[in-house]
Amino acid sequence: MGSDGMDVGFLGLGIMGIAMARNLLKRGFKVTVWNRSPAKCEELAKEGASIGSSPADVVKKCPITIAMLADPSVALSVALGPDGVVEGISPGKGYVDMSTVDSGTSSRIAEAVAAKGGDFLEAPVSGSKQPAEMATLIILAAGSKSLFDKVRPAFDAMGKKSFYLNDVGGGAKMKLVVNMIMGSMMAAFSEGLSLADKAGLSQQTLLEVLELGAMGNPMFKMKGPSMIDGKYTTAFPLKHQQKDMRLALALGDELAQSMPVAAAANETYKKARSLGLGDQDFSAVHQALAHEAANASDSAKAAA
Ligand SMILES: NC(=O)c1ccc[n+]([C@@H]2O[C@H](COP(=O)([O-])OP(=O)(O)OC[C@H]3O[C@@H](n4cnc5c(N)ncnc54)[C@H](OP(=O)(O)O)[C@@H]3O)[C@@H](O)[C@H]2O)c1
Repeated sequence: MGSDGMDVGFLGLGIMGIAMARNLLKRGFKVTVWNRSPAKCEELAKEGASIGSSPADVVKKCPITIAMLADPSVALSVALGPDGVVEGISPGKGYVDMSTVDSGTSSRIAEAVAAKGGDFLEAPVSGSKQPAEMATLIILAAGSKSLFDKVRPAFDAMGKKSFYLNDVGGGAKMKLVVNMIMGSMMAAFSEGLSLADKAGLSQQTLLEVLELGAMGNPMFKMKGPSMIDGKYTTAFPLKHQQKDMRLALALGDELAQSMPVAAAANETYKKARSLGLGDQDFSAVHQALAHEAANASDSAKAAA
């Protein structure tokens, strides 16, 4: 399915948003962008995008507007705040929020959009910076089915598979479950790398052993070598992974689902944030464990 010169607005040009909006431009969409920091809009304007002066301005200019924003409080302020999305919404317009937020945040935005006669779809994504650049994201949409059908060509330009998960909340919850699993896996992997090192084993050999067995996966394969080198180039900011652990745990609280593994992993991500690692890649959770190990050996030396 082609773009047919479809007009799309795009709010939020962070690591993910800029790559996603660029793929829309490449596939022939007419894209109007807005970002809090205007320099990122200028970058896309050189590639053919128009620039809107506010979220409301973008929504007024485009039949469908997509957003990719940091967290629930930002998603709410951009949607409901002054010069926000809802100010620009009128009957027939669609708003698609692809940020990772909790279902309560999504529902508040959906209600405000519906009150102005607009259509709403939540559509968080699975996949990081590279899948965003390669247009291979997995899109987890829920809300207005007619908007899902309308925005499908744009999803196809940004992702490899789009799921329609029924009522608002279905996409948000699926995304939180997926990222809770991912965050727990990364924390366990980091502990394993640290334990192997302390035990005098080669971390490189550990990677090879894992890769050959049933636990081999693209994430360990891609992140492992740079983690061993202590390099955490940001693809998925650690502060966002901790936000997702927090939101997934809140969902578990609400549903009385015990999640001891995720709760322990969340503590490690919190520790990493408190060490100033929030803007590094989420694999820098490994660094928090190394810091703990260094502290423990300092106190052992002091006690000796
Ligand atoms: N990176 C990944 O691997 C990945 C994968 C899947 C899902 N996600 C989710 O996708 C969303 C975006 O992630 P990202 O990695 O692109 O994050 P990011 O690089 O931190 O970008 C965040 C975006 O939100 C904007 N923003 C932050 N605070 C704002 C405020 N107070 N008012 C208005 N705009 C504000 C930023 O604007 P500025 O440019 O002005 O800072 C930027 O456009 C998050 O919900 C994240 O959890 C990320």
